[in-house]
Amino acid sequence: MSLRIAVLRGGRSSEHEVSMASADAVIAALEAGPHEPIPVTIDRESGLWRRDGQTVQLAPKGNGTPELRSGIDGEPIDLVFPVLHGPFGEDGTVQGACETAGAPYVGAGVAASAVAMDKGMFKVFMNDIGIATAKHALLTHARWRQDPAGAAQRVAKNIGYPCFSKPARLGSSVGISRVADASELTEALDLAFVHDSRVLVETAIVGREIEVGVLGNDELEVSPVGEISYASDWYDYSTKYEPNQMSLTVPADIPEQSAQSAREAAAAAFKAIDCAGMARVDFFLEPSGQVLISELNTIPGFTPTSVYASLMQAGGMDYETLIERLDQLGLERAEAASGYRC
Ligand SMILES: Nc1ncnc2c1ncn2[C@@H]1O[C@H](COP(=O)(O)OP(=O)(O)O)[C@@H](O)[C@H]1O
Ligand SMILES: [Mg+2]
Repeated sequence: MSLRIAVLRGGRSSEHEVSMASADAVIAALEAGPHEPIPVTIDRESGLWRRDGQTVQLAPKGNGTPELRSGIDGEPIDLVFPVLHGPFGEDGTVQGACETAGAPYVGAGVAASAVAMDKGMFKVFMNDIGIATAKHALLTHARWRQDPAGAAQRVAKNIGYPCFSKPARLGSSVGISRVADASELTEALDLAFVHDSRVLVETAIVGREIEVGVLGNDELEVSPVGEISYASDWYDYSTKYEPNQMSLTVPADIPEQSAQSAREAAAAAFKAIDCAGMARVDFFLEPSGQVLISELNTIPGFTPTSVYASLMQAGGMDYETLIERLDQLGLERAEAASGYRC
């Protein structure tokens, strides 16, 4: 069956450009298949949704099918594919808009998206199911402004140096700093608080970075483990997005037991937050072989050479098949949900 798929791209976060690149690839893959992609660009400043230059809204049509509406004209759609990273896209807000319009969509639902977006909340879930994480302190902007000395003391006592300062709800390494010692803390926190009112200060982990791809709703496919390598100090924005700064090795050359732990933890994390569709789950691997979960991305970077697609490819799934599976999983999830009355 040919589906009319609204591909949401851009969005209001600092990851707007990354989303545009991911969405181009998704659109190209959809064009090669039986479905009809309908690109909808979300303006970075205004948040307006645009289709061919016209402002559109996602709305229920009245007969149970959703449509993209511009004025009194409507264009029916079967599925929404949000290819948005960061706040107002990956965090449950756009997913909520789809729910209220009755539109099936690809990927995680409202709650899972919100939990995965918030690194502090995600850790609460991980600790609950016994998956190890790096130690952290959560600071609010209000508390930092009120008592910076107290906050600095708490960091020195509970976390120590070096540490990482990061906005709770962002991605692509935006707003993150490695903090070598106490003299660098204020600058690092001020930067992080530009992006979010909640900031994590985390023990700096010495270790390798490994990632796992997950695909499915109830039955999960878990990819082989990949290792990210780079020459820079840490995996910052330019290392992520400038050409040839990072390399991915799949399968990672790591002890079998660590690989097994990471794959099991990735599936357990996915289930614990009630994720759906896809996720890229990132870990640190310590020299001892211990695996610490770092984060779960519900809409990972999505070009054919992005880590998620490469991991799934190593597991035997090509990019176009991956997109098709995600479409079907989105429809299946909506179908299953329609059987329940809240
Ligand atoms: N606690 C930590 N110890 C060591 N490196 C870290 C730590 N936290 C973050 N980093 C580095 O910063 C990068 C980005 O951090 P991450 O928490 O994954 O945020 P983002 O969501 O922006 O990717 C990581 O890939 C890693 O290189
Ligand atoms: Mg990351």
